[in-house]
Order: sequence, then C-alpha cells, then structure tokens
Amino acid sequence: YLDDGRFYPQIDSTNSEAKRFAEDHPGQSALFVAEEQTAGRGRLGRQWMSEQGTGLYLSLLIRPEIEPSRASLVTQVAAVATAEAVEAVTGLEAQIKWPNDLIVDGKKVCGILAELSAEMTAVNYLVVGIGINVNQSDLPGEIQDKASSLRRLTGRKIDRQTLLRAVVERFGHYLGALQDDALLERMHQVYRLKSATLGKEVRLLGKADRTARVLDITKEGELLVIYPNGERERIHFGEVSVRGL
Ligand code: BTN
Repeated sequence: YLDDGRFYPQIDSTNSEAKRFAEDHPGQSALFVAEEQTAGRGRLGRQWMSEQGTGLYLSLLIRPEIEPSRASLVTQVAAVATAEAVEAVTGLEAQIKWPNDLIVDGKKVCGILAELSAEMTAVNYLVVGIGINVNQSDLPGEIQDKASSLRRLTGRKIDRQTLLRAVVERFGHYLGALQDDALLERMHQVYRLKSATLGKEVRLLGKADRTARVLDITKEGELLVIYPNGERERIHFGEVSVRGL
C-alpha cells in the first residue's frame, strides 16, 4: 500500500515532511521515518520529544478513497495496529486510551497524530504520525509519572527496525477495514477489547470538567457517555480530553 519509503537522519517533523511531499506528489503514498525530529508535534498543539536514536518517529501518507467523515477510522486502525505490533515485539500488553494513545502499565508509550487534507466529499490525503517511546532509559521529569518507554517496561533494548516493520505491516492489514465490513468489525472489536477507556468513569476536560461513564466507543471513533443525571452525549474526537478518575 506504499509507493515509497523515506528515511531522515534529522527532520523537523515526519508529519510536516509527509504533508510537504503530499502536495508535490499527487496520488503517491509513502512512509517517512526519522532518527531525530527537531520540531516533533503532538496533539492539541503540544510538542513531541524526539531525541536522536531512542524513539521511533514515523508517518504514513495514504490516500484512501473515503469520505472525510470516515477519516477518524484510520486513527483507530493506527492505534490497533501499533498496539498489536508493540505486543508482538515486546510481549507487553498494550491498551488504547481514547482517542489513540497507547498505554502500558498505566503509562503512555505511544502517541498518534493524524492530519487530513480533504474536499467536501473526498479525502485528498491523510498523514498518520506515530511516535513510540522505545529505548529511552529516562524520560524528562515533567512527564515521568505519565509516560514510559518500552525499554523501561521490559528491561531490555528493543530493535526499532523490527518494531517499525511490525507497525507498517499491521497498519496495512487493518487499513483493509476501510473497504471490508467484516474486517472493520474485527478491527473495532480489537479496539474495544484493548480500550483503557471503555466502561470507565472519566473526567471530560473542556466540558466544564464534567464526570461521566463511557458506555461505548462508536465505529466513527466517538465516545458515547452517560452523565450521573442520566443524560447521554456523543463526544467527538478532539473535543475534550479524558482523564481517568
Ligand atoms: C500525541 O500523543 O500527542 C501524538 C504524538 C505524535 C508524535 C509523532 S512522532 C512522528 C510524527 N511526527 C510528528 O511531528 N508527530 C508524530
């Protein structure tokens, strides 16, 4: 499913590079991997620590023939694919925290940043950026209680090449869910099974800090929640952040 693979010893951000490439190469899909990012980006305008040689920093540029409303499915695909790849390579158990953070032993080990270019009815391209904390032996103080690395969690060094291959292979596999309803069902099933959010009490930050229970995560990637007063609501991707209680 990829026309090209590009490796960079150092780049600002593989997502930014993938978007630049997308504009100059209509119709092409590609993989971008960097050894180091000088301006790695996270969700909600945050930065993603991307020091040289320790993490895995990659972006997948794809051109699925789908409506923009189905684009968030691709981030679910990325989360499921990456969770399975991490599990296969490390033997750890990975959970998905809505919308698409990977958590091991309660700590974040991977983040996903999807960016979309679309017309009214069709997606032009999608860039799915995946950052995995692989071989960091220490994480900066400010994120230490919330984040970890696969090396810290397993006690051994993980081969980034092997992990990269596993992620790319599984992402390609589950991408078939965009055209195949049976595979979509299976992918969604795995997403729910691995969900760290489903069934939990959460605090919806950005919703006047309301507390709610998560009833379901829909195929569109929305959170279906119920408030203590019985009121239900669908929460879209990006609208709020979620904290476990
Ligand atoms: C998040 O959890 O906030 C998402 C982090 C995404 C980081 C990856 S690293 C590769 C790609 N390039 C970027 O600039 N960001 C993503």
